[in-house]
Amino acid sequence: MTLKLSVIGTGYLGATHAACMASLGFEVIGFDTDANKIQTLSKGKVPFYEPDLEELLTAQIDSGRLKFTTQIEDLGSADVHFICVGTPQVSNGNAADLTYVNSALEAIAKFVKPGGLVVGKSTVPVGTASRLRQRLQEINSGADLAWNPEFLREGFAVEDTLKPNRLVVGVVSDKAENILKEVYATNLKENTPWVRADLPTAELVKVAANSFLATKISFINAMAEVCEASGGDVTVLAKAIGYDPRIGSRFLQAGIGFGGGCLPKDIRAFMARAEELGAKQAVEFLKEVDAINLRARQRIIELVRKDLSNDLVGKKIAVLGAAFKPDSDDVRDSPALDICAQIQAAGADVTVHDPKAIANAQKRFPGLKFSEEINQTLQDAELVLHLTEWKIYREINPAQVKALVKKAIIIDGRNALDRDLWVKAGWKFRALGRSSHE
Ligand code: UGA
Repeated sequence: MTLKLSVIGTGYLGATHAACMASLGFEVIGFDTDANKIQTLSKGKVPFYEPDLEELLTAQIDSGRLKFTTQIEDLGSADVHFICVGTPQVSNGNAADLTYVNSALEAIAKFVKPGGLVVGKSTVPVGTASRLRQRLQEINSGADLAWNPEFLREGFAVEDTLKPNRLVVGVVSDKAENILKEVYATNLKENTPWVRADLPTAELVKVAANSFLATKISFINAMAEVCEASGGDVTVLAKAIGYDPRIGSRFLQAGIGFGGGCLPKDIRAFMARAEELGAKQAVEFLKEVDAINLRARQRIIELVRKDLSNDLVGKKIAVLGAAFKPDSDDVRDSPALDICAQIQAAGADVTVHDPKAIANAQKRFPGLKFSEEINQTLQDAELVLHLTEWKIYREINPAQVKALVKKAIIIDGRNALDRDLWVKAGWKFRALGRSSHE
């Protein structure tokens, strides 16, 4: 008989997981304490922007396999319960806030069927899964708990969930592994690598992966700083080192650095947890990774100051991009938005464009000006900042838009625009890690 699944927490991770599992033929029930979210999802609407997700969600609801609820007891008939709630950074430190994970476990524990499995997918500090497993079995001795970290990227959430590049399962018993093999039977048939681990290793795989990615980005941004100091070009450097397959060219895009709801908070939570474990020194380099990342935001503000004679007051600046990365409307810890807020605080008159993230950006920074039109954003600008590398910005014709601006100066914060094209059209072109061109 096909397994019935439940998904606790229907944010980014949970909503995607629920829709994808239903598309594989499972009966899935999604739970959240946020009634608005559940109402929206039940209507087949996704409360955030993620390519392909809405179509998938609607199709699965229509098929009758996918349902949503705010009543935890409705999950009682499921065989496997995925915990997909958030683990944000605490407000008074670096650690992860485990409130939602803890309450999800407390809420579901007594409804797990004998032989049922709770599967954590949230990113948690190492040691959490063992503690939760013990607590689960105190409440419900017939239940087991496994950890199955998620590696999906925003913007590719559906693709990453349906075709993951590996599956990692932290389990204590063979029985738990076998249940997960049933859940992921389709992937196993497609030869997706399967890594069985113990609980702490499974938790660590996730933070290690995100720490490595963050380190790679900060490495290239550190090289950008050295290029700036020496007259080198970081884009050429990245291309050249990337040809070495041991290094690889991905995640070597220098610019204003990483943001979002994962990389920044995950490296900080990792440092906090390592310190608790007496292994502080082992991940102390992540402090530098974080510092290089935050410095990139200051370096671009310095470029802005240089071009505006160190006086931002009243200067009209057009910003292209607010999301933390393209194909997302997420502005959590967005470097782009942070830069906007800082230059506005320094007196600049900032107008921000983004194809998807304006509503979220406005909620966070209601004082900033926003525009839905690229041309309107550029009108009379004394400087243009390119901060999120949406495809539409690469399609701008620099010769055409030159007539709109007061001064044709562009700073490419993502090293994604075609410099020659902009320079040929008469723009002064600046970028992080590359010498100025005019
Ligand atoms: C990241 C990981 O890539 C996923 O594998 C992981 O599952 C997810 O976090 C998570 O923990 O949930 P995501 O936050 O969606 O995914 O975004 P990334 O694609 O990793 O980009 C993160 C940030 O790094 C963005 O701000 C992006 O602009 C920046 N970045 C990325 C660079 O500055 N340079 C690069 O070369 C690549």
